[in-house]
Amino acid sequence: MKFDVLTLFPEMFKSLEESIIGRAKEKEIININLINIRDFSNDKHNKVDDTPYGGGAGMVMRPDVVYNAYKSIESKNAKVIYLTPQGKVLTQKKVEELSKEEHIILLCGHYEGIDQRAIDKINPEEISIGNYVLTGGEIPAMVLIDTVSRYVDGVLNKESIMEESFTNGLLEYPQYTRPEIFEGERVPEVLLSGNHQNIEKWRKEKSLELTKQKRPELLLKQNNEKNKCK
Ligand code: ADE
Repeated sequence: MKFDVLTLFPEMFKSLEESIIGRAKEKEIININLINIRDFSNDKHNKVDDTPYGGGAGMVMRPDVVYNAYKSIESKNAKVIYLTPQGKVLTQKKVEELSKEEHIILLCGHYEGIDQRAIDKINPEEISIGNYVLTGGEIPAMVLIDTVSRYVDGVLNKESIMEESFTNGLLEYPQYTRPEIFEGERVPEVLLSGNHQNIEKWRKEKSLELTKQKRPELLLKQNNEKNKCK
């Protein structure tokens, strides 16, 4: 899986060098190519933004610079995504769908965003990571890379994905490790029993109980979807 990221702040992506994504990069299971939009400025001061026509606060990224940066990427069938609060909110289902792509281009806006003419020309799919506003698309792009990469073969073991929250529409059951007694609290007895059937049953019950307690809207959503299928 290849990600090309168009950004004014490539240094922000250093955190993807760590942990699971860092290892996947080292093993070349995923490839993250950072393209600095500033390198495509024709201006002697490397200017990438300007004040908005019509007035107003902040700066807008210039269309020529953004479009030149985009055109520098060689792509035949890449999925192009613009991270913006105006996009459809990212869900686990969408993440799974995106993980089937071979090449994803991520366009990160900053300041007051990108001149609309560049967006119209590139015609990307617009994705938001939630109903709040960040200072730019870099953190959302990292969220997308992290969450999509987890589904790429070889990044995680398959069981982690099968068992995790949201994959089956429920939250994940609680996890325990050593020590067996912590501050007087024991690990639930069933987990020490070695009886895998009972453990599975307990985990399913806990998943359901936790979802009811913490995210009841997920159960409603599941029921609505079931009724739609009937
Ligand atoms: N850029 C700023 N806020 C954003 C959000 N919530 N999602 C995606 N991109 C953004």
